[in-house]
Amino acid sequence: MLSSITLLAGAATLLTTVVADTTFPVGVLGTGTMGVTNPPKPTLGTAINQTSMARLLTVNSVDDFCLFAPPTPQAISDSEAFEVAWCTKPRNNARLIPDGTITGVSFLKTDFYVQVMGYGDLTKINIPAGDFGGELDPHGALGDGNPVGGNVTSNITGSDQNFAEWMLYIGNGQFCMRVCTNANSTYSAAAMCWHELDLMGCGFVMPGNYNNNGTFESCEADVAYPPGWYPTATVNGTPVFSTFAQRFTGTLAGGSVYTVGDLSTPASAFFTPSSSNCVTTSTIANGINLANPPTGVPTVGGGQNSNGGGSGPTQTSSNNGGSKPTGGNSAAGTNSASNANNSNKPSSARGGNANTQFYPLIALWSALAGVGAVVLFH
Ligand SMILES: *[C@@H]1O[C@H](CO)[C@@H](O)[C@H](O)[C@H]1NC(C)=O
Ligand SMILES: *[C@@H]1O[C@H](CO)[C@@H](O)[C@H](O)[C@H]1NC(C)=O
Ligand SMILES: *[C@@H]1O[C@H](CO)[C@@H](O)[C@H](O)[C@H]1NC(C)=O
Ligand SMILES: *[C@@H]1O[C@H](CO)[C@@H](O)[C@H](O)[C@H]1NC(C)=O
Ligand SMILES: *[C@@H]1O[C@H](CO)[C@@H](O)[C@H](O)[C@H]1NC(C)=O
Ligand SMILES: *[C@@H]1O[C@H](CO)[C@@H](O)[C@H](O)[C@H]1NC(C)=O
Repeated sequence: MLSSITLLAGAATLLTTVVADTTFPVGVLGTGTMGVTNPPKPTLGTAINQTSMARLLTVNSVDDFCLFAPPTPQAISDSEAFEVAWCTKPRNNARLIPDGTITGVSFLKTDFYVQVMGYGDLTKINIPAGDFGGELDPHGALGDGNPVGGNVTSNITGSDQNFAEWMLYIGNGQFCMRVCTNANSTYSAAAMCWHELDLMGCGFVMPGNYNNNGTFESCEADVAYPPGWYPTATVNGTPVFSTFAQRFTGTLAGGSVYTVGDLSTPASAFFTPSSSNCVTTSTIANGINLANPPTGVPTVGGGQNSNGGGSGPTQTSSNNGGSKPTGGNSAAGTNSASNANNSNKPSSARGGNANTQFYPLIALWSALAGVGAVVLFH
């Protein structure tokens, strides 16, 4: 027994160094070591531990994804460096998102990224009500990630892979996350997961169907332009883009003030890509009663605490559930740079609570205190 435990521990140590699969374009896969608090690889069905400090997210599907949130109740802006993983299923040694937390999700699979956009009572995962939230990514002030050692996997490309570029906006009852799973010579993974537009909000940075509170859907979608990219011309059949840089005034350690970025801030992304093959699910509950959790390794699935019955997944007709392209928003927006309202109106015609106000998931603290420079320019 002792020797097999030693062997397992030895194997785990070896596995923590991830080597890139050469079938992916350069810059797509995460390589090197996993954060020290992380298990060596994504694992479904790990024991429930609501005090876990693990920081490995997996984003596989509408009902199998994780978010970073604080280990104890506190603002995102105060805890970016040490957020921990919370998952919809017991996995990755992470904490479990309690059933009833997530109230709506739209999951998108595209050729270049997977994206999960949703709403919930995020106080259940330690984010205070009304918290302005913030933006998390693998870069961070010191280049070692926000949170430090945070890693992200998905199996959307056919098997579990560590992806190098991702971004998560979370706060104030809303979240959106993109994991960049592909690249070509036009779009690098870093550009498609560009992480320096943290004042712009989910709808701008990750266009999609945000009219999803109360529903759970999984769609395929066309590829958006990278955040802040606007086509300006076509040269020899290839689009040429302008890029938008968020305006920011900061103060350096020595006290001098600087300003970077564009004077005018566009109102929205250039377009919201079409989605198709949407499948809706009645619930993403895991059915686990955290007040009386199973001991040991739980059995996953079942979801006996279904959020109000309903049938299983239903396939909607093609291109029925998603947002239609809106096209044509000019990059030369007339909004002032200080307009944080970012109301990228969903172009979808579907009914329901049209929550068009896209929460300025502002790292307001950075604007107020001028301490955000390191985070913005990582
Ligand atoms: C884990 O995250 C750290 C910090 O961002 C990064 O340096 C490392 O390459 C990541 N490892 C993997 C396997 O993705
Ligand atoms: C839960 O996670 C914490 C922090 O990583 C760790 O100290 C503790 O031992 C874990 N508990 C169990 C039962 O694994
Ligand atoms: C990805 O993980 C899910 C569990 O979330 C599993 O059902 C599915 O079969 C996996 N897909 C692949 C391609 O491994
Ligand atoms: C890269 O992929 C995008 C999205 O599919 C496509 O529009 C673009 O033409 C591709 N670039 C090249 C060089 O193939
Ligand atoms: C989402 O819906 C829930 C009710 O299910 C509601 O309490 C919450 O305020 C809604 N969130 C937003 C951002 O509208
Ligand atoms: C945002 O919108 C609200 C309500 O529409 C308005 O009162 C406020 O002045 C706007 N803020 C900015 C910065 O434009």
